Amino acid sequence: ITLEAKTFPFKRFIVFTGWAETLSRAAEIAEELKLAVYVVGGPVRDFFLEKPVKDLDLVVEGEAEEYARALSRALSGEIKARSPFLTYKIVFPGGELDLVTARKEVYPRPAALPKVSPGSISEDLYRRDFTINAMAVGLSGPFKEKLLDPFGGLFDLESGLIRVLHMNSFVDDPTRIFRAARYAVRFEFDLAKETIGALGRAWTQDALNLLTSARIRGELLRVLSERAPERVILCLESLGVLQALGLPEPPAFLEKSLKIMNEKTSAKVLLKGLILSLTRAEAALSQKLGLSEKEALEFQGEWLKLQELLPNILAATKPSQRFRLLSGFSLPVLIATASVEKDFGERLKEFLALKEVKPHLTGEDLKVLGIPPGPQMRKILQNLLYARLDGKVSSREEELALVGRLLKKC
Ligand code: CTP
Repeated sequence: ITLEAKTFPFKRFIVFTGWAETLSRAAEIAEELKLAVYVVGGPVRDFFLEKPVKDLDLVVEGEAEEYARALSRALSGEIKARSPFLTYKIVFPGGELDLVTARKEVYPRPAALPKVSPGSISEDLYRRDFTINAMAVGLSGPFKEKLLDPFGGLFDLESGLIRVLHMNSFVDDPTRIFRAARYAVRFEFDLAKETIGALGRAWTQDALNLLTSARIRGELLRVLSERAPERVILCLESLGVLQALGLPEPPAFLEKSLKIMNEKTSAKVLLKGLILSLTRAEAALSQKLGLSEKEALEFQGEWLKLQELLPNILAATKPSQRFRLLSGFSLPVLIATASVEKDFGERLKEFLALKEVKPHLTGEDLKVLGIPPGPQMRKILQNLLYARLDGKVSSREEELALVGRLLKKC
């Protein structure tokens, strides 16, 4: 690869990242140590897309250790992590940055972690996933304040395309298939024809199934922290990923239930529900996705219990009855059920809303009314909640009247 420097609005870039001072210091130190240092990947891509920059990734051509130490000193920070892959994380007041030694990578086998050795910036860009992530901006050295874009990343950004750098990209690293789906949905981009071709090659080699469960799980978690995970899942389905992993097709309802859940729950819970809903605790699949046998069995028990109760839940007329029937179940099982039982979706949505409802009166208020803490107070609080859920009381005054009636009954 021959590198060609392109003119670039460097000042605007460093201000845009929100790290202008940090990057200026990083450039000065690189000059002092006579090292070529680059900002690479995400920040460059996000600058062109005018999207907020999340992380700073720097690449150093040559010896990074000394540079990492000098930079962390200058930023009054510390090096928090070092890895055998010549990687450093510098944490400083107000932020952190990742620093790696420019490297080349060789994949000993499909889906295995690569063998890494120091290399040049062009080799470092060549080891990356997509053209839009393979651009660099020089902070120092021969390409100071210039853009390096050897694979046409800028053109692909403008055309809205996710393009691999070579045909073996997904065979080398099948996690990139998940990344392609994330970027396609996040930026509303299409997959370039080369990317579709590389996918075809990955399928013929069954590359996804060579990944460890931990890596698949990690990628699914990343999917779930995207803004629209349900769309990424559907994209993965259209690319054949779910099928290649041996997962059944997501029911059409999945999209809706994921949307509901997404507002309410953390990515982890969502992931579990999703995985379980797709696998329905089939032992082999659960294992492949990194679930313990205990988790799968627990799920299965809960799942069966909920299936048994389902007719009662669907037939229950009062919100408080439905609330009581559902309160004992974990969120993953509820999501899983919503994804396969069409009518249950509305019930789940209602349940999540009901969970937020609280009576106006608290235990403290009841104490003031002379009711001591204990079973009687618990019962009254429960009755207040159910009456609220069913819309029988709405104001504090109505609740007080209800407490009066309940006390007379006792
Ligand atoms: N990368 C890669 N192949 C992977 C993972 C990462 O080539 N399987 C490269 C990409 O060039 C990417 C960079 O490593 O730009 C950093 O990875 P990451 O932090 O995961 O991605 P970002 O580009 O920062 O994007 P995101 O906004 O998703 O964090």
